[in-house]
This record gives sequence, structure tokens and C-alpha cells, in this order.
Amino acid sequence: MKVGILGIDGYLGWSLCLKLLDRGHRVVGIDNFFRRRAVEDLGSQSVIPISSMEERIEAANGEISFEEGSTLDFDFLSEFIEKHNLDVIANLAQQPSAAYSMRGVEEATFTQENNVCGGLNLLWATKNKDIPIVTIGTLGEYGCPSMNIPEGFFKVEYEGMEDILPFPKQGPSFYHVSKQQTTDNVWFACRTWVMRVTDVMQGVVYGTRTPEMEDSKLRTRFDIDECFGTAINRFVASAVSEHPITVYGTGMQKRGYIPLRDSMECLRLIIENPPNYEDSYHGHRVINQFHEYYSINELAEKVKKIGEEEFDLSVEVRNLENPRIEPEYHYYEPKHEKLQKMGYEPSTTLEEELKIMFEDLLEHKDRIVKEKIVPKIRWRE
Ligand SMILES: NC(=O)c1ccc[n+]([C@@H]2O[C@H](COP(=O)([O-])OP(=O)(O)OC[C@H]3O[C@@H](n4cnc5c(N)ncnc54)[C@H](O)[C@@H]3O)[C@@H](O)[C@H]2O)c1
Repeated sequence: MKVGILGIDGYLGWSLCLKLLDRGHRVVGIDNFFRRRAVEDLGSQSVIPISSMEERIEAANGEISFEEGSTLDFDFLSEFIEKHNLDVIANLAQQPSAAYSMRGVEEATFTQENNVCGGLNLLWATKNKDIPIVTIGTLGEYGCPSMNIPEGFFKVEYEGMEDILPFPKQGPSFYHVSKQQTTDNVWFACRTWVMRVTDVMQGVVYGTRTPEMEDSKLRTRFDIDECFGTAINRFVASAVSEHPITVYGTGMQKRGYIPLRDSMECLRLIIENPPNYEDSYHGHRVINQFHEYYSINELAEKVKKIGEEEFDLSVEVRNLENPRIEPEYHYYEPKHEKLQKMGYEPSTTLEEELKIMFEDLLEHKDRIVKEKIVPKIRWRE
């Protein structure tokens, strides 16, 4: 297959590229390097050193090409799609941080324009072409309703009548709302044009590497700052640098998580098995992608235990006033059956993956900018 990856330079985009090359697929990618600039502007850096795109391409084993540009440039994007004759396109070119989107009006506006309009450009550029598309949404779009969360659609009964409808979304930041809007745009496009789109409701991804990253020039980025450092990644970096693990509020918030290597395996399965008209609604297939869910306290305790018992570190867990506005005590039961039916089997455990992360991060401990771990962005201020 010839796969287009939009956002190929990112944490997931680069890992996906290597996974697909390893499977013998050809990859063409675009990126505007927003993430590299944003992390630098925040005064942080990828803890794992990363190569330039030129060095990455040179070190990669397989057929790969790259063009620098933005999904916000419709002419650039259309031309890219037109000339490459792609079998499938994965759109990862997004601003992925909830905290960044709550930093100020400029960041909120940027996030929504970048994510919503970039996605809209992709829909217009592929309109009626029937090129399967994979968009990466987030499990966070669903919020925390007091009921089981289905995979996208559910049966609703009201006043004696019933229908199958999209499950309501109530994400907790302007970032999440940008993803909800993207899901709505995809659903509308699928009902209106000839489209096949898999909308992946992805859990929080953690990990420093995948099996395809043995060569140090092929490593993917790994951030720990309050905007781009996600829960488990930030916790291990905190433990390694002997900075307290910062738990927001009571730490009872539950979320779905998946190791980087398994997330890539799931995306591979999705890319190689595009939706058909039986496993989708009008070509819109929604898949919840995560391995297990944990509360923040459970994660902090697991990281502390491994840090202390296996690596002889002294690890403190500290509860901070929650900078976010989010339910702390809540029901959480998202379904995740579709990927299992497609053949996904978890390849590792949280504990095994944490050990690899500790080893990798200890090697680059001096690159952890500790003062960027503590949250300064507050949802209500
Ligand atoms: N990492 C996670 O835990 C996680 C969890 C759920 C969902 N997601 C979603 O997965 C996708 C990838 O996330 P990630 O963690 O790899 O983020 P990332 O920031 O590392 O990757 C996104 C890449 O896209 C690029 N980019 C952003 N806007 C662009 C544009 N308009 N045009 C071209 N390139 C652009 C960035 O420079 C970056 O390289 C995002 O949609 C994110 O919301 C990630």
C-alpha cells in the first residue's frame, strides 16, 4: 500500500511511519514542524534526542518521502494527494494538547483552526475519491458520562421510538471540542459524499519506543512539559529526575491508556483493513483504541513502585490543586471490542513498558527540564 501520513514528524506519526515501512508499505508524509517549534517556545525539549527529518529518512529502511507543508494550505494538500495516488491517508496533523488549547485565546483559536480546518481541507481534498482516511480523535471526546461508552454509535429509545445515533460528546477542553467538531464534520461528509473514514477514539499513549527504533536516529520524540507531556510519560520522567509526580486533584480521574507499540499495531490493523459498508455507518467507522483504563492514583503508585524497587530511586507522589475543570469521581466504562475482533492482542503490560521507559529516560536524565513539569495553565483563570 502507499500510505499518506499527515503529521509524520510527531510522536505517533513517526512511529507509524516506521511500523508501516516495516510491513513493506510505502509512506509519503507531510508536516509543518509545529510541534518542534511549540515545545521549544515553551522552553522544553524532547527528552529522547530526535533527528532531523532528513536524517530520519536516510536512516529509515524502506520507501519514504516527505514534503514540508500544512494541512491548512488547501492547494498544497490537494496537490500532495493528487500526485501521490494514495491508497489510504492517516491524519495526525493536529495540535494534540488540552492544556495548550486552554493557555489563552490565541492558542485556543489556533487549536480549533488547525485541527478543524486542517481536517475539513482533507475531506474536501478527498471528496468522492473513496480514499480510506484514518483520523485520530481521542477517547476524551466522550467525557465521563454515567453510563457505558459505546464505539461511536448507540441505540437510543425515546418516547416509544428508537434510532441509532452518534454518542454525545462532552470533552473537557477546547482541544477536545476541536476533535468533536472534526468527528461531526466526518460524519456529515460520510452521509453526504462517497467517503470511508475511520475515526479513532484513541486513549492516552505512553512509551519511549517501538521495536522499529533500535537505531538512535530513528527514535520518536518524548515530551514531559505540562502541555505536551501526557500522564504516564510525565510521571516516569518525574520519577527519573527525582521531581515529585504531580497528581492533579484527588487523582481519582480514570482514562484509557495504550502503549506506543500497541497503538501502532492497532493503527496498522485499521489502515490495512479499511471500513466497508457493513462495519460502518455510511462509511463512518468509529473505533475506541485503548488497552486498559486506570485512575491517575493507580498510575502514580505503579510508577513509584517500579522506580523504587527496580531502579533504586526515591519517588514522591504529590497531589496538586487540579488546574483543570473535570469530574474527579466518576463512572468510566468505554467499550473496546472492534480492534480485538480485527485481531489486536495486547503485546505487553504496563509494568513491562514502564521498565523500558525508566531505562531509556535514565540515559537522558539531564535533558529533562524539571521546571516545565509543574502545571501553570489553569482552566478557570
Ligand atoms: N499522544 C497521545 O497520547 C494521543 C492521545 C489521543 C489522541 N492523540 C491524537 O493523535 C494525533 C497525533 O498526536 P501526537 O501525540 O503524535 O502529536 P504530535 O504533536 O507529536 O504530532 C502531530 C504532528 O503534526 C504536525 N502538525 C500539526 N498541525 C499540522 C498541520 N496543520 N499541518 C501539518 N502538520 C501539522 C506537528 O508538527 C506534529 O509533528 C493527534 O491528532 C492527537 O490529538 C494523541
